[in-house]
Amino acid sequence: MSVVQPPDYVKHSDLIQWVSDMAALCKPDAVYWCDGSETEYQAMCDKLVQAGTFVKLDEKKRPNSYYAKSDPSDVARVEDRTYICSIRKQDAGPTNNWIAPKEMKETLGKLFDGCMRGRTMYVIPFSMGPIGSHISHIGVELSDSPYVVVNMNIMTRIGKKVMETLGTNGDFVPCIHTVGMPLAAGQKDVEWPCNKDQKYIVHFPEERAIWSYGSGYGGNALLGKKCFALRIASNMARDEGWLAEHMLILGAESPEGEKTYVAAAFPSACGKTNFAMLIPPPEMKGWKITTIGDDIAWIKPGADGRLYAINPEAGYFGVAPGTSPKTNPNAIISCSRDSIFTNVALTDDGDVWWEGLTDTPPATLTDWQGNAWTPESGRPAAHANARFTSPAHLNPAIDAAWEDPNGVPISAFIFGGRRATTVPLVYQAVNWNFGVYAAATIGSEMTAAAAGALGQVRRDPFAMLPFCGYHMADYFNHWMQIGRELSNPPRIFVVNWFRKNAEGKFMWPGFGDNMRILKWVVERVHGRASSIESPLGWMPRYNDIDWTGLDFTPEKFYELMSVDREAWKAEVLSHEELFAKLYDRLPKEFLYMRELILSGLWRSPEKWGAHPERE
Ligand code: OXD
Ligand code: MN
Repeated sequence: MSVVQPPDYVKHSDLIQWVSDMAALCKPDAVYWCDGSETEYQAMCDKLVQAGTFVKLDEKKRPNSYYAKSDPSDVARVEDRTYICSIRKQDAGPTNNWIAPKEMKETLGKLFDGCMRGRTMYVIPFSMGPIGSHISHIGVELSDSPYVVVNMNIMTRIGKKVMETLGTNGDFVPCIHTVGMPLAAGQKDVEWPCNKDQKYIVHFPEERAIWSYGSGYGGNALLGKKCFALRIASNMARDEGWLAEHMLILGAESPEGEKTYVAAAFPSACGKTNFAMLIPPPEMKGWKITTIGDDIAWIKPGADGRLYAINPEAGYFGVAPGTSPKTNPNAIISCSRDSIFTNVALTDDGDVWWEGLTDTPPATLTDWQGNAWTPESGRPAAHANARFTSPAHLNPAIDAAWEDPNGVPISAFIFGGRRATTVPLVYQAVNWNFGVYAAATIGSEMTAAAAGALGQVRRDPFAMLPFCGYHMADYFNHWMQIGRELSNPPRIFVVNWFRKNAEGKFMWPGFGDNMRILKWVVERVHGRASSIESPLGWMPRYNDIDWTGLDFTPEKFYELMSVDREAWKAEVLSHEELFAKLYDRLPKEFLYMRELILSGLWRSPEKWGAHPERE
């Protein structure tokens, strides 16, 4: 093992000590300190091409872009291998996997011993958020994967400038990652090294440390994203009085030029990137959406009693299938160059393709496993979780303030699940506490692909179920507390783009037309849009929504907005299952709010709808 000799600009003795200790444990052949330069990025990509991990895409069609295919066993986040190792089991809560830190460290100590033999350990200093912002935080990831280095280069701000900001004693979150496949002397590497048998994604919340073993993919390996920016940061946020959320942030600009920032949480695979980059229908003249972030928001109270948010990331790790010039033109432009594609299909002329990109697939492709593919093959060409890694600044709709170190003021929170029944298109919670209740109880119906009974609702509180790094009920209490401290809290809304009719068809067109609902949200925030009281909260009437350019009848609208008493009785009862699971720390207010929602259901017709007579 070579000497861990840092470059001159590294002056942080604790950091140097930690890198030395980790190198002594992992026993890499070399240690390389990433400076984050363009030259370094190119050299790393060339190395990945030589190793067979990357294929360079056609320079004219997709400039400076690369394609990778992973091992078929390493294609997604591994929630059942993800652990929150708090000192006390109760602090991880019933929704997280837990193993005592001492026991986990023994396991990891053995696994990491010599895990980087035959490889280089890369030291990647990264900033989550604009460098120097009071909302940003720094991490240092040690990884034996050059694929991780180049992805981190796009997804975060890395290198020398981060190290300089750290100075001699700045705080950083230590993150260690290995693909878990040491190479014996002379052993030939594989294109996608990983450990097929053992994977561990481990968080030590009190220590604020992350250890990841065995996977090279996405959120398992790019430790700034879910591991740091959500699981560890949620712990920091609870202790320090701020919020680390699984939320997109967008700016909605009215024809008059008034900008309103909104943060929205949806479970994975509910179109967050599409919503963050929404293009309003052309008839809604003058409305414009700009993007601050598509996945994660760090939000701090400001001196004026409002909340201010930054996007801690610098790139998009977007799901490719379903992304097209029709569904998300801004995402298509964002990945038109300088991007990395993982597990999509390769075209014969050196470009990429995935299901949904074009109406007609190419006649021949190489699929994500490297096999010849034709439309007759009867299997998808891209993996369902195939991704593009693209720099955020390429998004034509990027907000001018996306790197503002002070963040942007948030006026509304939107929470949404994927519900085929029961939940109306949109409502506004009557106050902060009811909003927290609604966010805590959002969920999605199980799809045929997921384990469990079809149609059964999986609760995904705040879309944070796989990402909250501590007891979920403590997290609800933290949200309640933030509300008590704010003099000007954002208003809270619930949406459901996914309601279906009796024939099983989606009732709402979605995509650009979501602007109509967003417009009502924005107008509500500014006290301009009217609404009607419903059993759940405030709801728009037909005439409160801008329908220009869309033929959508009042009947259809009220069907979409209906609140069925029997369905909601069952819904509210099923909240109880979540509450029972979290009972030891549940906010006491939740039980009263549940009762108030129930009682509200009796005030109205059995099937409540803001019907035309009420206009
Ligand atoms: C993501 C997720 O990849 O939420 O963003 O799973
Ligand atoms: Mn996400």
